[in-house]
Amino acid sequence: MSEELLRIEKVGKRFGKITALQEVNLTFNKAEVVGLVGDNGAGKSTLIKIISGYHTADSGSLYWEGKKVRFRLPKHARNMGIETVYQEQALAPDLTIARNVFMGREPSNALGIMQEKLMEEESMKVLRGLGLRIKSPDQLVKKLSGGQRQGVAIARALYFDAKMVILDEPTIALSVKEVREVLEFVNQLKQKGIAVIFITHNLHHIFSVADRLVVLANGEVMTDVRTENSSVEDMSDIIVKSTLGALV
Ligand SMILES: Nc1ncnc2c1ncn2[C@@H]1O[C@H](COP(=O)(O)OP(=O)(O)OP(=O)(O)O)[C@@H](O)[C@H]1O
Ligand SMILES: [Mg+2]
Repeated sequence: MSEELLRIEKVGKRFGKITALQEVNLTFNKAEVVGLVGDNGAGKSTLIKIISGYHTADSGSLYWEGKKVRFRLPKHARNMGIETVYQEQALAPDLTIARNVFMGREPSNALGIMQEKLMEEESMKVLRGLGLRIKSPDQLVKKLSGGQRQGVAIARALYFDAKMVILDEPTIALSVKEVREVLEFVNQLKQKGIAVIFITHNLHHIFSVADRLVVLANGEVMTDVRTENSSVEDMSDIIVKSTLGALV
């Protein structure tokens, strides 16, 4: 049976006159991959920014493992085990792979000196575990391919024992081969019992990995279905119709 990890109840968010989310109710279960889809401006990024403590909701509640929580800062969500890879690049391109894996949580010794060697060893372990072929943890992230960058962000989530990983458009601007790598990372997260929320505009990408699909339109949940009970055609119809509905 599926076990509830995160429940969102009647969450609303406005930006001035714009209603980005209205009374959103959703449940995310442990080890479940949920595809979050919907047109530009539907509210997808706003929703995951609320889950990850980057924005606070104006109304409604969040329950993490059954307990009511209020994330006022990204670190509150991170401390609970929610790792988010944002649409706006989450990595520091001019830093090494190892530094990126540990960013903001660098281990230091008793004298407060950063433990570079430990970071390098640990990041190599987790990257290899993901099947990522990296020559050296000293490599700068800007020298990596798009797929490898996603791998580094996901390695960070794995190292810090995330229970939920949120990916905002992880396959955008990637080559076919890189997309396949990212989808494979998502499968690995699922196999490790980690829940994934995957935002995308590409229904083909999400259909191959998601257990469930949620369509947002104009800040509301239009559809919430199991992938096996839907099809790419059905979903794209729903998205197109929900957008047209907003225009008339
Ligand atoms: N920081 C902000 N300030 C003002 N308006 C915002 C802000 N963030 C989002 N919005 C507005 O809220 C609505 C939802 O935006 P959001 O970014 O959540 O959409 P999205 O579904 O992620 O779209 P996309 O697929 O283009 O990334 C849009 O109308 C957007 O313009
Ligand atoms: Mg977005």
